[in-house]
Amino acid sequence: MSGLIRLRGFIQAMTRLADADTSERAWLTEGADLLRGLVAQDDWLPDSMAEDGPTYRQYLLHCDPAERFCVVSFVWGPGQRTPIHNHTVWGLVGMLRGEEVSTEMVPDPAGGPMRPGRVDRLRPGEVVPVSADTYDIHIVENAFSDRASISIHCYGGNIGAIPRSVFDPATGAARPFISGYHNSAVPNLWDRSRELAA
Ligand SMILES: [Fe+2]
Repeated sequence: MSGLIRLRGFIQAMTRLADADTSERAWLTEGADLLRGLVAQDDWLPDSMAEDGPTYRQYLLHCDPAERFCVVSFVWGPGQRTPIHNHTVWGLVGMLRGEEVSTEMVPDPAGGPMRPGRVDRLRPGEVVPVSADTYDIHIVENAFSDRASISIHCYGGNIGAIPRSVFDPATGAARPFISGYHNSAVPNLWDRSRELAA
């Protein structure tokens, strides 16, 4: 199995989880197992969804029609990082290529500087959750200054359209944020003609 067949199978399995009215806890276990299977092989991501740019790229691979979950390719150019941000929904991060570092950022109740908490360094094939049960506010950065890194993310909604926040590290002050996506077309998973002709 290679190419988009692998991505299509993953999305079909995630859709079955959504249809089963899966709890957040189950998404973070069963969904994580599925994502681990997807990122175990690096032979399926279209090149157009793997290009880096002047800032980190966020390419939508699939959004469930009922917006119950989405699948996104994050491409980190050398040394690139996100602002401090939250998600408000469950998320799964699976490392496909290179490495990234996710650092939890903890607000100071008194309005002082935010402080770092848990640090996850992801290597290819590894999957970590984000959730209000673990941590929801973090900063993510490419672990490498000389090459791109790519991770595949799933969220419990259409993450590019969810009103979220970015945070000022000096004060913890929140500012509204809707991320959007960098691509205007998603991969065509449904041209089965080559498989059928094989
Ligand atoms: Fe994040």
